[in-house]
Amino acid sequence: MSRRKFLLTSGVSTATVMVTMNMGTSLADVPAMVATYPRKKIAKLSDLKNDKPVDFEYPDKGAYAQSMLVKLGQEAGGGIGPQKDVVAFNNFCTHQGGDLTGTYKADTKSMGACPLHLSTYDLTRHGILISGQAYQSLPQVLLELKGDDIYAVGVFGLIFGRYDNLQG
Ligand code: FES
Repeated sequence: MSRRKFLLTSGVSTATVMVTMNMGTSLADVPAMVATYPRKKIAKLSDLKNDKPVDFEYPDKGAYAQSMLVKLGQEAGGGIGPQKDVVAFNNFCTHQGGDLTGTYKADTKSMGACPLHLSTYDLTRHGILISGQAYQSLPQVLLELKGDDIYAVGVFGLIFGRYDNLQG
């Protein structure tokens, strides 16, 4: 057996043993600890008008759960609907929790400026920061469309003031 062939063969064997050990010890014995978001109906697509936000709470009624849904009138990251332009975001600035309620700007499709330190977020690009003191995107509420009904089904990004979006 050539040196090259020996190395290739032994490498395959090692990988096989590692996979077997993982399956035999950890995965089978450890119960799954996966938290799942609630599925919540929040609006009807046919009721939405461009640039008119709709308020809702998600994923619960706890602190910092206030969020807004808006039909931007232009395609956006994570957008749903025929135009992929319906998105939703948590209302609280990721910097120090400034309340962004009512700060949606139709001309720039943004949230802000934050009343505390002026952070502004782009709602067409998953809430990425445009300017200001924050360094994390605005948490985006993940949406699903079933018929005419819009459901919130998750949150992408950590909600301000929480160590876990699903505090229970
Ligand atoms: S809390 Fe919003 S920029 Fe500081």
